[in-house]
Amino acid sequence: MGNEKELFGGARLLRLGGHFPGSAVLHWSAGAGGKGILCTGDTIQGILDKRWVSFMYSYPNLIPLPAEQVARIGKMVKEWPYSFEHLYAGWFGKGVEKDAQQAVIRSADRYVGILDGTIRKDYWNVLLEEEPEILSVGVEPAFGVGQRAILIQTGSGNILWDCVNVLQPETARHLHELGGVQAIAISHPHFYGGIATWAEEFDAPVYIHEKDRSFVTEPNSHIQPWSGDEKELFGDARLLRLGGHFPGSAVLHWSAGAAGKGVLCTGDTIQGLKDRRWVSFMYNYPLYMPLPAEQVARIGSTVKAWPYAFEHLLCGWTGQSVDRDAKAVVIKSAEHYVGLLNGSLKREYF
Ligand SMILES: [Fe+2]
Repeated sequence: MGNEKELFGGARLLRLGGHFPGSAVLHWSAGAGGKGILCTGDTIQGILDKRWVSFMYSYPNLIPLPAEQVARIGKMVKEWPYSFEHLYAGWFGKGVEKDAQQAVIRSADRYVGILDGTIRKDYWNVLLEEEPEILSVGVEPAFGVGQRAILIQTGSGNILWDCVNVLQPETARHLHELGGVQAIAISHPHFYGGIATWAEEFDAPVYIHEKDRSFVTEPNSHIQPWSGDEKELFGDARLLRLGGHFPGSAVLHWSAGAAGKGVLCTGDTIQGLKDRRWVSFMYNYPLYMPLPAEQVARIGSTVKAWPYAFEHLLCGWTGQSVDRDAKAVVIKSAEHYVGLLNGSLKREYF
């Protein structure tokens, strides 16, 4: 009986209830270099955004725990004499890697606030780890065309590729803790929204291509147009203009990404698809207005001629990345697109 059972070696079981009447967690005070860890199964559930956790009665059926139970769990965790830096839930990749006790308390407060209506429905940033050193920065519920930005931690500074309209104070704080943002680079004008807010928060230059300069609606002293087809940034990252979707449409290549095999971030200069074996190229996506064959052929042959390899392609939307051999996918997709447009490829079943 009771809510606590001492084991040995600085480890103890703590009952929190909620998910099941006896739902417990394990605290080990010597973990995380003496800062403590908490193993939670799904008594407390890790989520994809590692700054937050959740509390459900049933996870597969999405049945929530009542507010008073979550409030009780949050209060217990706050009042424990046991602190913990890391939280490990029962699934790989789900957990909190930093200041986990505060994450649990903050998450319980937010959960209760949403249920009792004291937190109004609002836009939130969602931060998802795409791969080590690459963080997807999205907005929930989807804002605008539902795009995301991408934070690349090059080791020589952080680059925000593309931009979103929402920057929550806690997101800003989190990114400052990761070293801030030393450069913002934008693929094309559909991602110009929010750049002034982000540039001012991080005092970072915003690189846009000069061919798209006339689309800037909010002039800002941080904006630095670049020209030509290539601009070296830092930390093995460079901007490459491809045109097509917009005259200045650019992509970002980071050669250290994908464990040294290279990553290409594309916005929708090159568009990822649900079928991740292919990409596409459009003048206008919502209206399905295509790019002419000669432009797509030019983009394909430009990518082919680059001395830059890339294994992964991350476009401006989650769930549409190319996970392998992405350079070959772009070249093949361009050839396919052109071949179908000019009739040299016969229509077939995909
Ligand atoms: Fe676009």
